[in-house]
Amino acid sequence: MLIVLCFLPYPLNLSKVPQHNIDREILRTGIMAELDAISLYEQLAAMTTSKKIKSVLLDIAKEEKTHVGEFQALLLDLDKEQAKELVAGKKEVDEL
Ligand SMILES: [Fe+2]
Repeated sequence: MLIVLCFLPYPLNLSKVPQHNIDREILRTGIMAELDAISLYEQLAAMTTSKKIKSVLLDIAKEEKTHVGEFQALLLDLDKEQAKELVAGKKEVDEL
């Protein structure tokens, strides 16, 4: 059975986002798109019977993880509350 999940309608409409928040929303949208891409490529890699295609898909998925990190680094520079809560979330999980 082929099930591929992609949740984001592209392009997103950011026209109602206040200008002072637009860069944050652009970066969050970028993160969502990269996470969506990772999920897609990993699902496709799991489905293919070709070792070569699987290898390329997993390599691309890994690159998308780097892109998540790039967008996240930029977002954390702009959103100090997000930076603080990211640390708080990790701490909560570590305490489980
Ligand atoms: Fe990417």
